[in-house]
Amino acid sequence: MSMIVRRLSRAATAGLVAAAALTAAAHSAEAADTLGSAAVGQGRYFGTAVAASHLGESDYAATLDREFSSVTPENEMKWDATEPSRGSFTFTSADRIVDHAQSQGMDVRGHTLVWHSQLPSWVSPLGAQDLRTAMNAHINGLMGHYKGEIHSWDVVNEAFQDGGSGARRSSPFQDKLGDGFIEEAFRTARAADPAAKLCYNDYNTDGVNAKSNAVYDMVKDFKSRGVPIDCVGFQSHFNSNSPVPSDYRHNLQRFADLGVDVQITELDIEGSGSAQAADYTKMVEACLAVSRCTGMTVWGVTDKYSWRSGGTPLLFDGDYNEKPAYGAVLSALGGSGGPGDPGDPGDPGDGASCTATYTRTADWSSGYNGQVTITAGAEPISSWTATVTLPAQQSVSSLWNGTPTWSGNVMTVRPSWNGTLAAGASTSFGFTAAKNGSDAAPTVGTCTAS
Ligand code: G3I
Repeated sequence: MSMIVRRLSRAATAGLVAAAALTAAAHSAEAADTLGSAAVGQGRYFGTAVAASHLGESDYAATLDREFSSVTPENEMKWDATEPSRGSFTFTSADRIVDHAQSQGMDVRGHTLVWHSQLPSWVSPLGAQDLRTAMNAHINGLMGHYKGEIHSWDVVNEAFQDGGSGARRSSPFQDKLGDGFIEEAFRTARAADPAAKLCYNDYNTDGVNAKSNAVYDMVKDFKSRGVPIDCVGFQSHFNSNSPVPSDYRHNLQRFADLGVDVQITELDIEGSGSAQAADYTKMVEACLAVSRCTGMTVWGVTDKYSWRSGGTPLLFDGDYNEKPAYGAVLSALGGSGGPGDPGDPGDPGDGASCTATYTRTADWSSGYNGQVTITAGAEPISSWTATVTLPAQQSVSSLWNGTPTWSGNVMTVRPSWNGTLAAGASTSFGFTAAKNGSDAAPTVGTCTAS
């Protein structure tokens, strides 16, 4: 798993590297009894879509941090979220996800740069030349902000229409710039962040059909002409109207044979019980059978926040219980410790654990108050340790309900009076920090408990 450091202007570089080393070690030290660690054992990542608005929920964050090695912002990197008015970029929510992922040693997929949907209203009326300029500026704005921090970017999303024609989808980009907008977006993206893998991402391309054939022809053409494309994303949203195709693996392989990586990017399968579990198993087995399938991402942590919540399409139910599909995926990844197995971190009786989440509780021009909430896992705990890495310029003037020790700008906090917590119970410590010119948020590393 690679660990990527934020731009110097936003990072307390030394502290972040130290925190990253800690969290990466914590992930790799785990047995292959979580989705992320089992997938890493297979040379793959196992990711999930994440919504910034849920990161402050302790059970959401605990499941995310425990199980996944990659995250995709579900909506926060889209055009309407990041450039709501022309040239005015806002990264607050996306940064929150990236910061959280980095504090946990997770990688980040970027989703998405050029898409006909979730476009702010100022884009569609632009004339062709202006639209071209705006598209390239948007790519440069996002990729520049996250340069070196994103393992794969969905450069263009859903540019082909459904149905039998294999035609391009009507969109402002297609209608005004023609087929060449895709190529131009990829060329701009390569220059903006040469380290990122550049993906084309789409749905209903999961088996061999007219739409996937059209994408296949485009990728083949790009490869033959040296247009920079590294990967193809297969969204893989399945339900009874759109079932798992029997030639899924074959389809992944034929794209891989063109010389690109393939990734399962938005996996969800409506259903429940053993039927849903069997379909998930097919997905994992297909990816593992294709050496260029570098990883898979499910489209959400819990059924209750899924875009298709009524279809219960994910691996954890609304109460964060592992579903049969979870055990099936873990087993297919070669992991052990599904529901009920000894050592399964989701089951009671597996020892002490905790999660730490950060919120800013007060803010003024020269400083702020931060609060870190510690929540015990499935077992009672008698002590906990949490790390907080501050931006280099900032300094802490006071801290309450905890005992800090310092190494550079990394603060390690242990309980003062509040070490003992019942299973699932929470406590918190707070601190006052001087900004000294930096308003950036601190990052909270792994919580350990005994
Ligand atoms: O945040 C606002 C909230 O303030 C407001 O009250 C509420 C009222 O509707 O809307 C909220 O925004 C919603 C947003 O999700 C966050 O929940 C939008 O309406 C809603 O349209 C948006 O849906 C997202 C959808 O893309 C939009 O196209 C889904 O969360 C997201 O899962 C889905 O993801 C897409 C991928 O990007 C591309 N592939 C298909 C996939 C599923 O549709």
